[in-house]
Amino acid sequence: MSSTLAHKSTLTLLFSALLLSSPLPSLSSDPDPLQDFCIADLQAPVSMNGFPCKPASNVTSNDFFFDGLAREGDTYNSNGSSVVYGNVLAFPALNTLGISMNRVDIATDGLNAPHSHPRATEVGIVAQGKLLVGMISTSNVLYSKNLTAGEMFVVPRGLVHFQMNVGEESALIYTAFNSHLPGTVFVSSNLFGSRPSLPDDVLMKAFQVNKTVIDQINSKFG
Ligand SMILES: *[C@@H]1O[C@H](CO)[C@@H](O)[C@H](O)[C@H]1NC(C)=O
Ligand SMILES: *[C@@H]1O[C@H](CO)[C@@H](O)[C@H](O)[C@H]1NC(C)=O
Ligand SMILES: *[C@@H]1O[C@H](CO)[C@@H](O)[C@H](O)[C@H]1NC(C)=O
Ligand SMILES: *[C@@H]1O[C@H](CO)[C@@H](O)[C@H](O)[C@H]1NC(C)=O
Repeated sequence: MSSTLAHKSTLTLLFSALLLSSPLPSLSSDPDPLQDFCIADLQAPVSMNGFPCKPASNVTSNDFFFDGLAREGDTYNSNGSSVVYGNVLAFPALNTLGISMNRVDIATDGLNAPHSHPRATEVGIVAQGKLLVGMISTSNVLYSKNLTAGEMFVVPRGLVHFQMNVGEESALIYTAFNSHLPGTVFVSSNLFGSRPSLPDDVLMKAFQVNKTVIDQINSKFG
């Protein structure tokens, strides 16, 4: 065996050993829980990668139920949509379980603006209405389809996506995530509504427009 070949097989062995011995980051989102449950103590002074558990003796049935998604969100706003979050912050029993849900209400002509979830893949089901559901790959390819009640969609982790009501009635979607706190980055408000705001030069160069155009967009999100 030549020394290069030997070197290669050693590397392959090392790599395989690493893959087998470590949790596979490409196959999981939130880490696996190490106990039955860990109801988040959101007020705990200590912060960590997640939330500490409240004492088991304090846990009651009520901790495991959440009615926040039962109520329609308020869509009377500039984009005609509302997201009600059923994540660990709203429903502390989700802590460490790697799962959560949202409710998205979209008025006629409303839009759940382009956004991404840095920590989760999303699946959704249309409960009511007709929506154009779309996402854009990292190769800038748009994949989209009109969906109606009962139809499902998936958005791979981190990809920018949106839903627009293209029907005659208000629309309702329920979405689910493989993270207790998927995070949401709305592209427009992320870039134009940050605090402190991005330097004009950065936005002008990024979008190839002049300051007048940037000021105009900034005024909607500032
Ligand atoms: C647990 O319950 C005790 C007694 O009701 C209360 O004083 C304490 O604040 C609770 N702790 C947490 C973390 O909920
Ligand atoms: C939608 O409109 C509401 C109210 O105007 C605003 O708080 C929210 O940030 C908007 N969403 C986006 C993605 O701009
Ligand atoms: C979706 O439905 C709208 C409204 O009926 C229609 O104008 C549009 O062409 C449809 N888009 C696709 C991709 O089918
Ligand atoms: C900025 O760009 C817009 C759109 O291209 C153009 O209409 C406007 O005249 C420009 N303003 C200045 C000050 O150059």
